[in-house]
Order: sequence, then structure tokens, then C-alpha cells
Amino acid sequence: MSMLKSFFENTRKPEGVGGRLMLSMMNAGHNANALWGLTYIEIPPAAKILDIGCGGGKNISNLLCRAPHGSVYGVDYSPDSVEKSKRTNKTAVLQGRAKVTQASVSSLPFEDGEFDIVTAFETIYFWPDLPHDFMEVRRVMTENGLFLICNEIARPEGAEKWIKMLDLSVYTMEALSRILLEAGFSGISCQEHPNGKWLCVTSQKPGRT
Ligand SMILES: C[S@@+](CC[C@H](N)C(=O)[O-])C[C@H]1O[C@@H](n2cnc3c(N)ncnc32)[C@H](O)[C@@H]1O
Repeated sequence: MSMLKSFFENTRKPEGVGGRLMLSMMNAGHNANALWGLTYIEIPPAAKILDIGCGGGKNISNLLCRAPHGSVYGVDYSPDSVEKSKRTNKTAVLQGRAKVTQASVSSLPFEDGEFDIVTAFETIYFWPDLPHDFMEVRRVMTENGLFLICNEIARPEGAEKWIKMLDLSVYTMEALSRILLEAGFSGISCQEHPNGKWLCVTSQKPGRT
């Protein structure tokens, strides 16, 4: 494996020295996309929020700012991501407003109906089984809760180099809408950034009728 490829493998699962460097780079490099995506959801000040694939934890910080009376949980299957997220949000972790746990999206260590909002920034490309994983996300959400997905790669065309190097699964907005619908989400809304590259999808867990 080339050195470049093995360094960029840290986007899939940060590990070791290269992983820790990548986590700092992602905290800075993904933030513009995340801040754009966050404009598409309304966050109640006391919301209980889960950020899946939290990486270096910058989005846990962004979410804590938007829910000043709430709490933000992060999960990531990489122990190095969990450690970095805890360091990035040290004060909130000490105050009990942030909690970061090592776990896979496919088996979330939470009860049914715990979270008002779930977010996934730059991570679904790596999830092993999107239909199942979206159902797992829905399980831990409150009725009428919101799910926000933000990706810097909206479609495979033009991203072939990254797809090949990182073995990414890139989903178009049409594919995501279909999988979300099949996983039981409603109110699906897709936005493409004017730069023609970024994608943000919001959806809702339906309430009981
Ligand atoms: C490209 S990084 C994005 C990190 C962060 N969300 C951001 O926007 O900077 C992808 C993150 O998703 C995590 N990840 C990938 N697959 C996962 C899975 N199946 N379950 C939990 N975390 C996962 C990786 O460990 C990594 O930290």
C-alpha cells in the first residue's frame, strides 16, 4: 500500500500517529461543510443529540453550542477518535454535557427513542450496511426526531480517485432518499450546496398516528 493511501485510510478508521494527525485535519477541514449542513435543522436548546462517526469531536462542540441546555453524545468505532473527541470537548465531558463512547453504528449502545437529533458528518461512506444502519439510527431516535446527514461528496462523478483510494460508498441524494424511506424515515429533504459538490439530507422519524 502506498504511504499516501495508508495515511488516508485514517479517514475510515483513525489509528495511531497518522490517525491522530488525520483527526486534527478533519476537525478543521470538514467544518465548513458541517456548519452549512447545520443550517438545515432547528435544534431545540435542550435537545439530546447523538453524533455518529464523531471523529475528532469538532461537531460535538458545534452541537453543544447550538443546544446550550442539552447534551451531546458521540460514538465512533475508532478508539483514537473517541479519545480525540473527549479531548476536544474536555470541559463539556467533565460537566456531563458530552459523552463519547466507542461503538459501531450497526449496534448502538442506547435504548430505543433516546435522541431528539442524530447527525452523521462525512461518515456514511464507511457504514457497512446502510439499510440496516439507518434502521438502527431510527431505533434510537424520539418520534418526530431529526436525522441530518452531511457529505462533501454528493455523487460519484468527479470523485473517482477518492472512491478508488478509500473504497468509499458514495450515495446520490436519490439513493439516500430511497434507503431512508425504506428504513422508515419521512419528511426527507435533500440540499445540494451551490459549489455543486456537497450534499445534506434531513429526515424525520415519524410520530405515532
Ligand atoms: C471521515 S471521518 C469523519 C469524522 C467527523 N464526523 C468529521 O466530520 O470530521 C469518518 C469517521 O467515521 C467513523 N466510522 C466509520 N465507520 C463507522 C462505523 N461503522 N461506526 C462508527 N463510526 C464509524 C470513523 O472512525 C471516522 O472517525
